[in-house]
Amino acid sequence: MSNKLVIGMFGFGVVGQGLYDIIKTKDLNLEIKKFVIKNQDKKRSLPSSLFTTDANAVLQDPEINTVVELIDDADAAYDITVKALKAGKNVVSANKKMLANNLESLVNIQHETGSSLLYEGSVCGSIPIIRNLEEYYDNELLHSVSGIFNGSSNYILSKVFNEGQSYDDALKQAQDYGFAETDPTLDVGGYDPKFKLAIVAYHAYGLYVNPDKILNIGIDKLGDADVKFAKEKNLKIKLLPLAKEVDGNQIVLYVLPKFVPKESILYAVENENNGVLVRAAFADEQFFYGKGAGGHPTGSAVLSDITALRYGYKYEYKKHLVDKPVEYTTHYQLRVYLRFSDESLLEKVNFDNIEERYSSKDFNYIIGQISLKEIIEKKELIDQQGVFIAQMD
Ligand code: HSE
Repeated sequence: MSNKLVIGMFGFGVVGQGLYDIIKTKDLNLEIKKFVIKNQDKKRSLPSSLFTTDANAVLQDPEINTVVELIDDADAAYDITVKALKAGKNVVSANKKMLANNLESLVNIQHETGSSLLYEGSVCGSIPIIRNLEEYYDNELLHSVSGIFNGSSNYILSKVFNEGQSYDDALKQAQDYGFAETDPTLDVGGYDPKFKLAIVAYHAYGLYVNPDKILNIGIDKLGDADVKFAKEKNLKIKLLPLAKEVDGNQIVLYVLPKFVPKESILYAVENENNGVLVRAAFADEQFFYGKGAGGHPTGSAVLSDITALRYGYKYEYKKHLVDKPVEYTTHYQLRVYLRFSDESLLEKVNFDNIEERYSSKDFNYIIGQISLKEIIEKKELIDQQGVFIAQMD
């Protein structure tokens, strides 16, 4: 027999409404008792008695055994999650920023309280990657986990590359569809996929790295010249997070745009779709594909967590508890394309080797080898207007 879930839900935005649409169609032995929202005056599609602005109406209601947290504000989401776990309630969250910034303490609180926190919807929308990393790849040596983790950036890149749309129009559409974060810099600046990468690293390798320490450079400095350069070489540019094992127990993590050839499975991942590419010692290469943003796809992942709670499911974080933990490293060489306008940049950023250099009146680039550590140290110089960096194979 499954446990009856009585739910208190925080937030009724794109994902909350998507989740509600799905729940309505099923008989799931669950009840949503209260929605906590910010603005009581907003017109809602459900009876106003279901809505409150008082968080305690959920957190202090002993009948509510499950909190579903789908709000934007990461600090408020953390506060709600901690209070709910400490009150003995299970929590489902899709807030990648809140999770990535606080994973270690949230794991400790779960161990102390015995409550369960699930967050499949926080990484790559509808793609069930967390539970797979946690359960299916429990004993596999994972060489790498990478892919397309941000629907909005991928949507923009698809529209720019395939339909010749302007970057700004494509971003506006991604916002209109509800794919983008309230602050879209989180998407196009590579922060959102970085938060997802930090969560993935925890479940793939048992490694916690504070997102502040992980490099993220996004697609917001992409220019027409970069698109033309890629097209001439039959390449596309995709925004790719990477978690990769090097030298046995060291893990490299970063988010960078990358030139992707036709032969790559990621080349065909378009619009708001995401793709997760897992390279493992024995299973070899596996690919997960699906919608990475939007109310219904993300709502379906949230619902999967809710229904898993009916049977008492918890993440066990086994990889985090192993005797020989892995370490984070930034000692890693990358081959990159760097477009710039001011030559003096090359005196300030140290390349280990420059293999190609092109200069014309309005388009200058180099291709060369640089360490991840150097990109992190010179991020302000590299991630600025007039400069675009992308990794090359
Ligand atoms: N803004 C996110 C994206 C939503 O575009 O992928 C899903 O996490």
